[in-house]
Amino acid sequence: MAQSWAFFLLVVLCFCCVSDLICGSNGERVFLYPQSQKVSSIVSQRYRTAYHFQPPKNWINDPNGPMYYNGIYHEFYQYNPNGSVWGNIVWGHSVSTDLINWIPLETAIARDTPSDINGCWTGSATILPGNRLVIIYTGADPEKRQVQNIVVPKNMSDPYLREWTKAGNNPVIQPVGPGLNSGQFRDPTTGWVGPDGLWRIAVGAELNGDSAALLYKSKDFLNWTRVDHPLYSSNSSSMWECPDFFAVLPGNSGGLDLSAAIPNGAKHVLKMSLDSCDKYMIGVYDLKSDSFIPDTVLDDRRLWLRIDYGNFYASKSFFDSKKGRRIIWGWTNETDSSSDDVAKGWAGIHAIPRTIWLDSHGKQLLQWPVEEVESLRGNEINHQGLELKKGGLFEIKGTDSFQADVEIDFELTSIDKADPFDPSWLLDVEKHCREAGASVNAGIGPFGLVVLASDNMEEHTAVHFRVYKSEQKYMILMCSDLRSSSLRPGLYTPAYGGFFEYDLEKEKKISLRTLIDRSAVESFGGSGRVCIMARVYPVAVVDGVAHMYAFNNGSATVRVPQLRAWSMRRAQVNVKGME
Ligand code: FRU
Repeated sequence: MAQSWAFFLLVVLCFCCVSDLICGSNGERVFLYPQSQKVSSIVSQRYRTAYHFQPPKNWINDPNGPMYYNGIYHEFYQYNPNGSVWGNIVWGHSVSTDLINWIPLETAIARDTPSDINGCWTGSATILPGNRLVIIYTGADPEKRQVQNIVVPKNMSDPYLREWTKAGNNPVIQPVGPGLNSGQFRDPTTGWVGPDGLWRIAVGAELNGDSAALLYKSKDFLNWTRVDHPLYSSNSSSMWECPDFFAVLPGNSGGLDLSAAIPNGAKHVLKMSLDSCDKYMIGVYDLKSDSFIPDTVLDDRRLWLRIDYGNFYASKSFFDSKKGRRIIWGWTNETDSSSDDVAKGWAGIHAIPRTIWLDSHGKQLLQWPVEEVESLRGNEINHQGLELKKGGLFEIKGTDSFQADVEIDFELTSIDKADPFDPSWLLDVEKHCREAGASVNAGIGPFGLVVLASDNMEEHTAVHFRVYKSEQKYMILMCSDLRSSSLRPGLYTPAYGGFFEYDLEKEKKISLRTLIDRSAVESFGGSGRVCIMARVYPVAVVDGVAHMYAFNNGSATVRVPQLRAWSMRRAQVNVKGME
């Protein structure tokens, strides 16, 4: 009690230190960056998300073996059964019929054999002919070498597939061969069949100091041989975690099953996890050389495309045969401290599963939250025909600002005012987002959405756009700026950002969708061209009211032809006692 009073007083003091929302000399709104004394750390269960995937307690990281099988979605995950920091990793397991409400089940893969005694790490599920199911995952053995193991369902008459049997010949793949680092050899992909009828998987590895997706072949999924060349490798880093390999058809939001006949014109995507983010290349899977050939090879990996430009890692996709789409899941870490996580008793969530497909030019992936999340939408508010002049701020009232789904279209009245684009910004977009903040005026933009804002705006999270002109095309910057997201010290509060190319002459409108879920702010810009997942831990707004605004701080007027926002209901996510 004493503590909460002290906290309340501190918050009041902080509010007194700053004036109300202030205007810049040119009339634009200025969003304050905290200068007053920061509030000491508190841990609140209010940060626990209401509709993102997480287990009842403890640590989680990567999504594992996601699949749709016999009418049920399965989500496995890296799980520490003993606490809320990484360690003792086993496979947690949940099932669902709609990807949003989840039933928690018992551990699917435990550390109980020599080939996984030090950890049951990431892996993938494959549906074999005859509707047979197999999971391949990495085990850390007694010498902490990384090996690949197989499990199959124990009881096929159990629709939830609660129990799994380990193959007698585990480990089925050992880290052997010249140049292979046995401590950097993990995260096998879903299998696919090649033209010779053999199964293939790729495994992330360090090979001769380079990063590689090593290729393995098998007749029966049990006995594997390494192919003499990798599926793809690169000397621009030394290890790729969690490779994912799949096929996509340009401009077609339907998904493809990599083991089914791949239509003409299809492209392939190789996703890899490195540098704390998920990057990908688009190319073709050349059957002759049995390798992935990217359309473009960029030596500087800072320029590689990203699945998400925020806090999103170790993603894994699967083909959803129920709705004929590809779905990708990713892990989002906490950005508070480990001691906060111990105090909360949990750490880590999964982003909302997203449908993923290739744009019609074959240049980048697009993503959108699965439609099932819309079942949580409650009361709707709807505004049309708003106009945001320079400095314009429109408060979005009437929804639960801690649990909301917001969709805004921004229409540009003129595109002549766009400032010139500098390609060097692409090397460090976060730096550019720090310099080009929500209050820093430009020709077109910044305009966007402010969420979880305190009364005086000292605490807020801004998601915004700017438009730049680059020779024949327009480049749109999207930032999710967390620098003022909390008055708490010691949090990781970057200004995330990504660029996308846009045909503004044709489109005129730039859309933003943001899912707010207590400590998660997950944004989709330009109809899913740039996605930014973020974690925030506000303190000034946590017990009170949070404000939400659409704003424009750019010189050019921006219209909002349509703004819709919904309160989001709590989902049944791994609530105990549902079984
Ligand atoms: C990625 C990762 C994987 C590994 C797992 C261990 O987050 O490091 O490479 O298999 O987590 O939990």
